Amino acid sequence: MEFSCEDFKVGKCEGQKLVDGETMPLVLHSPDPNNSSDLDSLVSSLKKNKDWFEQMIIKNSAVLLRGYDVKNAEDFNQIVEAFGWDDIRYVGPAPRTHVYKRIWTANEGPLEEFIYYHHEMVLIKECPKKVILFCEVPPPKGGETPFVPSFRVTERMLEEFPGAVEDIDGKGLKYTFTALSKNDTSSMRGRGWEDAFGTSDRAEAEKRAKALGMDMEWLPNGGVKTILGPRALTKVFDGRKGRRMWFNTMVGMHGKEHSSAMMADGTEIPENVVKRCGEIIEEESIQFKWEKGDVLFLDNLALLHGRRPSLPPRRVLVTTCK
Ligand SMILES: [Fe+2]
Repeated sequence: MEFSCEDFKVGKCEGQKLVDGETMPLVLHSPDPNNSSDLDSLVSSLKKNKDWFEQMIIKNSAVLLRGYDVKNAEDFNQIVEAFGWDDIRYVGPAPRTHVYKRIWTANEGPLEEFIYYHHEMVLIKECPKKVILFCEVPPPKGGETPFVPSFRVTERMLEEFPGAVEDIDGKGLKYTFTALSKNDTSSMRGRGWEDAFGTSDRAEAEKRAKALGMDMEWLPNGGVKTILGPRALTKVFDGRKGRRMWFNTMVGMHGKEHSSAMMADGTEIPENVVKRCGEIIEEESIQFKWEKGDVLFLDNLALLHGRRPSLPPRRVLVTTCK
């Protein structure tokens, strides 16, 4: 694979890191910003170099297009459609609003809350390979979208807790998550089950949950407890150097008000393992400052991502692809 491409110039950004020989994120600019940073030039460059671009996403895990004239959801949608990747419908706890064609708002939960690191839809059978984000309004302070090379978490956890990691990996994980009936936009986990499953019919919701590999227990307050498991602790995906990804949401869901994580046989996960894992994830995180018009492509099989607390206004849009 050719690592350079005449239609893009490799740049730098604050916060990028060199991880196992790869720069994350790979920053790409127009080779001639005076003539070719407009949307039409970008879209035709992407169409022309589609396969190369996809390889760069897999190689570097994150690719940031910067300095192009991308103004709104319509522009962003054109960029996404240039690749022809299939859309994948979002299933999960985040309250999101449809904006335009394939484009949604990112989590609309309160900006002052930290959205914890996760692989998008990690608990669903078919999760997206790519998460693509577009910054329409950069936050004045905070609001970064940090991401973490997942295999580094596995490596470091294996160094510190080889026994516990193999024990949990062997047994698998079991999670529970409690959702309300209706949406509550005052919480970042506020997506009600009716919206999450696209129906207010309980039997239909159960059917759809089953198809996604979840069991449900109805609660007297109209909410529902979803139970998932066994699920993997780590996973290895094709084409990613045999890296063992930390493909779970143990730290994010363990011991929380709305959720839990334990081993699939019901064994508790040691508190110190969860706590240390959270520290390692934070230490391995990479973050840059959003600029207006940025488009970020994340390899969802290789990276965890989150959102730091932010001052308003902040408008970041998202789409997920197969
Ligand atoms: Fe996300």
